[in-house]
Order: sequence, then C-alpha cells, then structure tokens
Amino acid sequence: MMLTRLARKSLARVTPYTPGKPIEEVQRELGLPSAMKLASNENPLGPSPKALEAIRQALPSLHRYPDSHCFYLVRKLARHMGLVPEQFIVGNGSDEIITLAVRALIEPGDEVVIAHPTFVIYQIASQIAEAKIRTVPLRDFRYDLAGMRRAVTRRTRLVFIANPDNPTGTYVTRAEVEAFMGGLPPHVVVFFDEAYAEVADVPDYPDSRAFLGRHPVIITRTFSKAYGLAGIRVGYGMAPTDLIEAMHRVREPFNVNSLAQVAAAAALEDTEHLEATRRLLREQKRVLVQALEQIGFACIPSATNFILFRVGPKASETVQALLKRGIIVRHMQGWDLPDYVRVTIGLPQENQAFIQALNQIRREAS
Ligand SMILES: Cc1ncc(COP(=O)(O)O)c(C=O)c1O
Repeated sequence: MMLTRLARKSLARVTPYTPGKPIEEVQRELGLPSAMKLASNENPLGPSPKALEAIRQALPSLHRYPDSHCFYLVRKLARHMGLVPEQFIVGNGSDEIITLAVRALIEPGDEVVIAHPTFVIYQIASQIAEAKIRTVPLRDFRYDLAGMRRAVTRRTRLVFIANPDNPTGTYVTRAEVEAFMGGLPPHVVVFFDEAYAEVADVPDYPDSRAFLGRHPVIITRTFSKAYGLAGIRVGYGMAPTDLIEAMHRVREPFNVNSLAQVAAAAALEDTEHLEATRRLLREQKRVLVQALEQIGFACIPSATNFILFRVGPKASETVQALLKRGIIVRHMQGWDLPDYVRVTIGLPQENQAFIQALNQIRREAS
C-alpha cells in the first residue's frame, strides 16, 4: 500500500513487517480442506489448560478495564525470577517492550547496534525512532559479539542481542556475553531478547539477570513461545527500576488486557505443561534434524523451537510446493537468506507430514 505524503518523513525508510499468513487465509486462498502452520514458532501443544481455565473464569469481568500495572502477574513474575516487582514491566507481547525501550531511550540520530539478519522488530522500531542503525553481520549464523562491541561508539544508546536468535536459532554463551559486557560504557543499554529462553536446552546459556545490578540492561521474555499464548499477546521486561520507569512513561495505560494477565499468571504455574513442551521439542528436534540432513539439507544448530535449514536455489519453489500441500513454513528471502527455510517444530504427526511432503517434492523434481 502507498504511504501518505502526510506521514513523517522517516516512515518512508521503515521496512514494513511481513507476518506469516494465518492458517485460515492459506486454506481460503488455495481451497484446501486443512492446513498446518509451522511458520511462526508457536507451541504445538497449545496453551496450558490452566491458562484456559483462568481465561474462562475472567470472562464475566470483561466490562472492567484491566489492571494497568498487572499487579498480580508482576508479583508472580518477581517470585519466579527472584527479583523485585519494581524491576518488571509487562507488554502486549515482548514486541511491545522492544518498542517501549526504543521510544523511551532513542533521540533522532542516536545509534543502535543490530545484528544482521536477526529479529526484524529491532530495526523497524529503530527506524521509526529515527535512530542511526549500525548493522553487524552474523558470523557462521551466530551473533558476532566482538564485532558488535567494536560497533559501539559515544552515540550508541542501545544494543540488541536476541538470545537465542530468530531466524537462526543459535545462541551466545555465558563467556561471550561476559566478554561483551566487560568495560562496556554505561551510556549503552544492552537489550537481551530472550523470547526462546525457556526452550534453550543448552548448558552454557547465560543468566542475564546477573547484569541487572551492574549495567543498564533490559531483558525480555514472552508467553508466546514456550507457554503457548501467542494469540493473547503477553510478554515482559526486566530492568533496573529507572529504566522500567522510563518505559512506563511511554506506554499506554491499559496495554495488557485482563485475559492476558490471568492467562500468563496461570501458565507460569503450569510447570507440567512447560516440561511437556520441552520434552516434545527435544525429541522432535532430533527427529527433524536427522530427517532433514538425510534429505541433504544442512541444519543450523538450534537452541529454539524452530530449525533453519539450507535448501539451496530451489528454496522458494520448495516452500510454494509445501504450501500447495497445506504446509506453511517460512522462506528466508526477506532475511537475506534466499537459500534457507525456517520450520517450527510441530507435533510428531505434523513433522512427519512435513518430511514426507519434502521427500515427495524432491522426488517429483528429480
Ligand atoms: C527473537 C524474538 N523476540 C521477540 C519475539 C516477539 O514475541 P512476542 O511479541 O509474541 O512476545 C519473537 C517472536 O517471534 C522473536 O522471535
């Protein structure tokens, strides 16, 4: 769509976000009786039953405004994370915390350090705020923290670190993060986006909370991935209280709806559901990686609930062929990885169907 000339000049430079297509739209477009979505890194087990029950119980109170400060959820999060409530802010998804941080911290012309490719909202939020973006390419599909450290200048206000990263699924280790943080000047806020932390099944994953007393950091987590609540939109940020206060000043008063608040609080207590999710991912990641590599597609080692793999020059065709069979995955063209595809780990039967379809497509093409 055309952008009105009445818009702020900087909006012409904003790269619009392209979301994955909803299942219903794909079905409608292709006239398919059913489809499966393995494209947006959602939890294939669905929401926790405890969250669903909490939502049902909250429905009769929908005529009331939600609690502006998410009082109960924040207290539960504080206990869960071993911090104090004043170190938390809740958002309409962790996406919102990214935009709040940028809105609170960036003056036009301030510098922001962002890896490339990575989660695109960092760039979009920074472009809207008229930041100067310093881009640091990944190395071997991993964040180059030494390179990002070198990109820091006197004007740097924010550095984004997705850990684990999307779309690669790779992560940075405790030692790498420690080295990056060492001697970092205090005018640089480090934003640790930990959307996949709960499923990062790796031994040397850093506990970024350790930096909270030492350096201005913002750490975000979400209920959209491991907790299976992407549709209700709830995520949170942890930071020193002065940074939290800055973000509160730029947020809308009722940014988190009341169903999201009770669902998140209930999901946090459902350790059984979280464990089942982790078990499923561990098993199915092994199955998927093995099957993809058998076909001849190299997989990037993943610490997340999705796998980035190399199809080659036929990546786009392959994604289209999968789509015709009702299987939605993500082609990585928009991330400057035209030979790559990202698949979200689904239920065992979904993963089987995906692998079967891939094999069929390969046979038909040869
Ligand atoms: C790295 C990363 N950060 C943040 C998000 C945003 O998640 P949400 O806004 O649903 O909390 C995502 C979602 O895909 C992600 O991959």
